[in-house]
Amino acid sequence: MSEQDRSTLFEWMGGAETVRRIVEAFYPRVLKHPLLAPLFPSDIGPVMDKQYMFLSQFFGGPTLYSDVHGHPMMRARHMAFPITVERADAWLGCMAEAMEEVGLPGDLRDFLLQRLKGSAYHFVNTPEDE
Ligand code: HEM
Repeated sequence: MSEQDRSTLFEWMGGAETVRRIVEAFYPRVLKHPLLAPLFPSDIGPVMDKQYMFLSQFFGGPTLYSDVHGHPMMRARHMAFPITVERADAWLGCMAEAMEEVGLPGDLRDFLLQRLKGSAYHFVNTPEDE
């Protein structure tokens, strides 16, 4: 995908406003999910800010996350947390619901989720039975 296509994707999905709404729909679900909630702090605001910055750049928008936090190294940043396949599925499920709540069209949703799926399963670092 060229840089041009990437910035078009970010604009196509509705830019910063849509990313913000996705993040705001996503974390309440994460905090209610029995497999995910225990991993997250109750003060979720700072996590939401980082996710907003990260997803903006992940979907081809401005490089907000790297500008502040340096190289994303997202798999390394997740090593402190026991991420199983089940938890990756749960994370993706919450994200799918958040995108639906925000009203993204189905084909766009599928496309964005497909890209997140690669990362989510790449972050798995713990066998299911641990
Ligand atoms: C596979 C399932 C996943 C789980 C269980 C998970 C869990 C977590 C946890 C526990 C944190 C730390 C919260 C804290 O600061 O205390 C975190 C941070 C973060 N996650 Fe995930 N995550 C998953 C997948 C993803 C994916 C697919 C992405 C994006 C592609 C992502 C992006 C982020 C970002 C940007 C942060 C903030 C990193 C920072 O501290 O700078 N996560 N995640």
